[in-house]
Amino acid sequence: MSVLVTGGAGYIGSVIVEHLLDRGEQVVVLDNLVKGHRAAVLAGATLVEADVADGAAVERVLREYQVDAVIHMAAFSLVGESVQQPGLYFWNNVAASIALANAMVRSGVRLLVFSSTAAVYGEPESIPIPETAPLKPVNPYGESKLAFERMLPAYEAAHGLRWISLRYFNAAGATARLGEVHEPETHLIPIVLQVALGRRPHVEVFGTDYPTPDGTCIRDYIHVSDLATAHILALDALRADSVPSGAYNLGNGQGHSVRQVIECARAVTGHLIPTVEAPRRPGDPPVLVASSEKIMRELGWRPRFAELESIVRSAWEWHRRHPYGYDAR
Ligand code: UFG
Repeated sequence: MSVLVTGGAGYIGSVIVEHLLDRGEQVVVLDNLVKGHRAAVLAGATLVEADVADGAAVERVLREYQVDAVIHMAAFSLVGESVQQPGLYFWNNVAASIALANAMVRSGVRLLVFSSTAAVYGEPESIPIPETAPLKPVNPYGESKLAFERMLPAYEAAHGLRWISLRYFNAAGATARLGEVHEPETHLIPIVLQVALGRRPHVEVFGTDYPTPDGTCIRDYIHVSDLATAHILALDALRADSVPSGAYNLGNGQGHSVRQVIECARAVTGHLIPTVEAPRRPGDPPVLVASSEKIMRELGWRPRFAELESIVRSAWEWHRRHPYGYDAR
């Protein structure tokens, strides 16, 4: 029996693989390496280089490795890019996910943990956001994740496919071996740390006139290891059939502004980290903070690295050792 992790060569997927291997699971990673990194797939996992949209290839993998559960991480995840190229997002995040679900049905694999996002809520009416908040994405990325989430109950009714969708807020931080690398990098914490490393002259602060105490956007940062733990709990719950299928938020329930993140990084790194004020980035909601009460209550999830400082420190330790990411320069 093994677990298939699609997108397991990516930032969050690779850390989930690490946690699965640590508890002795057989792990198969399916990744086309368009965004993922071969070096992020730890020894012990089997890497199959293939596209999730290739249903026949997925079906072969599910049968050959006797997969009982799929953790589906493979996706495109940049809000701005999704506005420019919606077709790319609907193809990669919806069409490919349908191909995966159909391959699961054909090969009798009935358990799915799906990587979803806070972007399904759009601009929330109240904070912290519970799972029952209105689902009103404001960009094609959020739409694409929500579209697939919305199909899952029909797969369950028709084929008995049980599922848990995890709606992540802002994943950040690193483990000793695995960290965050995107090309191009758009996420705040790695950009701030690249400034500390001298790879960029300054951080642009996108918008200083938001209706927040210091005028910059507030986000709920969650350590990638705490995200990974939630996937393991979801997997166990599906295998034990202990909760109904459904969606869970994943955040720490605490918001930090862009300026607070930069201040924290200055304290952790000892570098000045110059900033430049820049216009708002289109599509950024002012405040996104999760209520993770449901996953705590139903799956017993508890974050180990809830403090922003421990998240930024772990990212800094990794970035210092990997100033060019997985690139060996
Ligand atoms: N920011 C800056 N300067 C930068 C980069 C980011 O000021 O150079 C700001 C952004 O405007 C935002 C905050 O820092 O206010 C966090 O930005 P990130 O790009 O790190 O993260 P997002 O909140 O935009 O995105 C995250 C996930 C997405 C998910 C989204 C939900 O990465 O996958 O939350 O809104 F869709």
